[in-house]
Amino acid sequence: MNAPTMQGLNINAPAYVKNARLLAWVADMAALCKPDRIYWCDGSQEEYDRLCQQLVDAGTFKKLNPAKRPGSFLAWSDPSDVARVEDRTFICSARKEDAGPTNNWMDPAQMRATLQPLFDGCMQGRTMYVVPFSMGPLGSHIAHIGVELTDSAYVAVNQKLMTRMGKAVYDVLGVEGEFVPCMHTVGAPLAAGEKDQTSWPCNPTTKYIVHYPETREIWSYGSGYGGNALLGKKCLALRIASTMGRDQGWLAEHMLILGVTNPQGKKYHVAAAFPSACGKTNFSMLVPPAGFDGWKVTTIGDDIAWIKPHADGKMYAINPEAGYFGVAPGTNTLTNPNCMASLDKDVIFTNVALTDDGDVWWEGMEKDQGKLPEHLIDWQGKDWTPEIAKQTGAKAAHPNARFTVAATNNPALDPQWDDASGVAIDAFIFGGRRSTTVPLVTEARTWMEGVYMAATMGSETTAAAFGAQGVVRRDPFAMLPFCGYNMSDYFQHWLDMEHKLEESGHSLPKIFCVNWFRKGEDGKFVWPGYGDNMRVLKWMLDRIEGQAQGQETMFGIAPRYEEINWTGLSFTPEQFKTVTSIDKAAWAEEFKSHDAHFELLSYHMPQELIDTKAALEQRLAAL
Ligand code: OXD
Ligand code: MN
Repeated sequence: MNAPTMQGLNINAPAYVKNARLLAWVADMAALCKPDRIYWCDGSQEEYDRLCQQLVDAGTFKKLNPAKRPGSFLAWSDPSDVARVEDRTFICSARKEDAGPTNNWMDPAQMRATLQPLFDGCMQGRTMYVVPFSMGPLGSHIAHIGVELTDSAYVAVNQKLMTRMGKAVYDVLGVEGEFVPCMHTVGAPLAAGEKDQTSWPCNPTTKYIVHYPETREIWSYGSGYGGNALLGKKCLALRIASTMGRDQGWLAEHMLILGVTNPQGKKYHVAAAFPSACGKTNFSMLVPPAGFDGWKVTTIGDDIAWIKPHADGKMYAINPEAGYFGVAPGTNTLTNPNCMASLDKDVIFTNVALTDDGDVWWEGMEKDQGKLPEHLIDWQGKDWTPEIAKQTGAKAAHPNARFTVAATNNPALDPQWDDASGVAIDAFIFGGRRSTTVPLVTEARTWMEGVYMAATMGSETTAAAFGAQGVVRRDPFAMLPFCGYNMSDYFQHWLDMEHKLEESGHSLPKIFCVNWFRKGEDGKFVWPGYGDNMRVLKWMLDRIEGQAQGQETMFGIAPRYEEINWTGLSFTPEQFKTVTSIDKAAWAEEFKSHDAHFELLSYHMPQELIDTKAALEQRLAAL
């Protein structure tokens, strides 16, 4: 947006901010958005405490009982502003084909003309916070810098937990360093003297989450929630970064990264992609079950990985984030004890329920507590009792209620989580959510087959989220809402990685496909999941070490029953068959559905993937 620089406006930049482009941009944006004041965040603890107190005074935050949840706060959002808005998210590349068929697109000039009047004066009556942050360890060659301008103090304090935010970023940025400009407003200007009538200002009717991949800019209007507003996360670290990766030969992925150490002290690193709400945080903090004495799983990241091929032929990954913005409902000490321990103190909760003693509660906690609480205030500020819930179905916490917490709160944090060089990846895992068809685990025979598995992975929808229940939504690489360019070009980029690394004589990480979610005839999940996923992880490591022979199936190499460590779990060969069998008729239907998916993505669809499909179909026919 070419707003004029407002002559004479004192943007009050601290002396340590020396980046000429940044100073000019802040002046331009201040002239456009017309905030009452500008505040430059330094990222200090004193500043965090002060802004949190300011949010308490404004009614946005409730301070939780310090005896129960020290240093923690609860925010309730506007009921119209509770999740990412995919239908309002745009990739405005110069050419529509470059956004591809899975992204919303608008011509950049048209989008700029649309946004110009919305941003004009959008911060009136408010403060513009200048939030400098590094995605990735400060100074890492894999890291990138962003600066978010926002009129939300809630965003500023969340960014302190989610990123490396503050003064030190300016040292890395220097006079001429590059940064991604991230413009954010809640889209609720105040007239002179007007006070907020709400504790969660946002624009209930107009929202735009806009990316310009060519100029690497982000413009977000109207929402204060999660990925719509914390622009380092999905907007920068995935949508913009995926286009950087395409241009520069690296990968920005919707993947957790974990370390797994065996009893002999050998450590492996695994990056795993699952669609949203399929247990990535749980897997990244996995506690090995009985029978795995001496094994340790440690977290490097729970949501995003940036991965670069290195001169030694290995692929190195960093977690660009510094905190977790996780879904609270369903989290308890059975599903994720490390996560529950991470949430003991210094947490920002959003849209969970408030207990009568000033603590938080969400659906799933009753499993720890043995019973439902007698009374709560729900996320919309209403009384909640088990009786009311029974009668009305009201949830105490919104299903997408979140916690924001620094990674350093995690007792299972990997010692290398902040290592500027990243960790060498030994295996990639791709997992969908399928009640039938896709087996518990298979290993791709080739890189290309692995890319095929990832390109066709899918998730069954739930009635609440996407309409009809049980419909498979293809979510290639779990990147459907996050790929900043044409999906088929992204497949090609993955395929090219193999060619590049093999040219230099190196072997690539193995690729595995998993599905924790197969159901039995009774409609119940057969695989126990959570900590027991360690059994599958161990089989993968055995494959890497050449210690498990596996067996060929149509869809890759699968474990034999006796190759899994079953100590401490009673899981019969019959049950194993239920989660691993390949049903010929179901797969014939599955491939038809891959056809429809490939048809949608036909522009630039790599021929190698079409050939891989034909080869798999031949294998199926031979069964
Ligand atoms: C997330 C998501 O919030 O994937 O991580 O939606
Ligand atoms: Mn995610």
